[in-house]
Amino acid sequence: MGKVKTQGAKNAALPVMAAALLLRGQRLTLDRVPDLQDIHTMADLLRHLGATIDFANGRMTIDVPDELKWETPADLVRKMRASSLVLGPLIARCGRAILPLPGGCAIGSRPIDFHLKALARMGAEIDLEQGSVHAKTSGLRSARIYFDFPSVGATENILMAAALVPGETVIENAAREPEIVNLSETLRAMGAQIEGEGTGTIHIKGCRDLKSASVTIIPDRIEASTYLLAGVMTRGNVEVTDIAPEYLEALTFKLDEAGIPTTVSPNSVSVACKGINWKGVTLKTLPYPGFPTDLQPQIMATLCIAEGTSVIHESVFDSRYMHVGEFKRMGSKIDIQGNTVVITGVPLLTGAEVHASDLRAGAALILMGLAAEGESVVCSLKHVWRGYEDLTGKLLALGADIELLADEKEEA
Ligand code: UD1
Repeated sequence: MGKVKTQGAKNAALPVMAAALLLRGQRLTLDRVPDLQDIHTMADLLRHLGATIDFANGRMTIDVPDELKWETPADLVRKMRASSLVLGPLIARCGRAILPLPGGCAIGSRPIDFHLKALARMGAEIDLEQGSVHAKTSGLRSARIYFDFPSVGATENILMAAALVPGETVIENAAREPEIVNLSETLRAMGAQIEGEGTGTIHIKGCRDLKSASVTIIPDRIEASTYLLAGVMTRGNVEVTDIAPEYLEALTFKLDEAGIPTTVSPNSVSVACKGINWKGVTLKTLPYPGFPTDLQPQIMATLCIAEGTSVIHESVFDSRYMHVGEFKRMGSKIDIQGNTVVITGVPLLTGAEVHASDLRAGAALILMGLAAEGESVVCSLKHVWRGYEDLTGKLLALGADIELLADEKEEA
């Protein structure tokens, strides 16, 4: 049985780091921060704004001075969409912010209109000038916010902004992801009053002077799920440890439906797939607790070698099927109809040279390569280093035959 320890969640660490900007002459201490490219990008952004950051062995301290800069540099923001998470804290803290429209994975148009509309309701004046958001306010006010869709980033930006605003802000149709709960715990430890995180309605009573706090980042449910699926695809035995198994239920229930048994213990989940064949299933990506869109390419890889037909409907993002063309090069049979794909399972995949178009697509192509007959070469791994700590080391420890080519080195 190969064991793999789950890293801290990238998507929890990024907003929690941004929340440090709400402090004034105080320190935020974080444990279990994953050593990833996106984490370094956020650290560089916070440093640019004036914070001092120390990061070693999973512990990060962020010291925030009395004065902060409020203009964010385009080169850092374009690297990563999650840079938009500094917008809420900066407006609340400095009364001003300039943010070039962010970049990130090539998965759909990904606007930030929900963030901007909600900040405007709280009293921010927002203008778009030459591709950058210019926001200013003489003071934010509490408000009732309703999101058309439970956007993770918009919920996080408003939670953070509201944490500095006296009075009660209510977010309706809020995102319910565990990462939102981790951020709420952080803001509460800093002195804000928050209720309802993890449900669709969050109440926040802010306070003008937040204080130093220490927080532990939750486990990364997408990383853990990716290694479980590596176990499935290679018909091996994999146990992912240091995880909250309830975060993985959308996956473990689907695996059960496909005929793949999982074993759950209080802080680990395992699969034992020797000699097992699985059947096709139908699934739809949804906001948490639905099936995560960030796991859609990896489960698709698994369903490419299922018995029978599978259907996946991607309902969170448009154009999140960039990996399908590459999957086909490895012998899979997939038909795309808008945001739905129909997969006809094949008994065997064949190795090929393929390109990772985004972070999770890259992880899924590596899973395909592990299962395929012959050698596969996955190129453009720079996306993968944004989200997976020591990916090759962890797969090698699980028994994979994988080698990192010199020009694809992990540059964390
Ligand atoms: C976060 C995750 C990302 C994950 C996604 C959905 C981080 C750093 N990233 O991204 O890995 O794939 O949640 O689980 O946590 N939308 C709008 N307008 C907006 C905001 C969003 O139309 O202002 C749309 C998006 O285009 C998308 C959907 O809402 O179709 C969901 O996006 P959202 O939940 O905001 O995702 P992110 O926070 O960007």
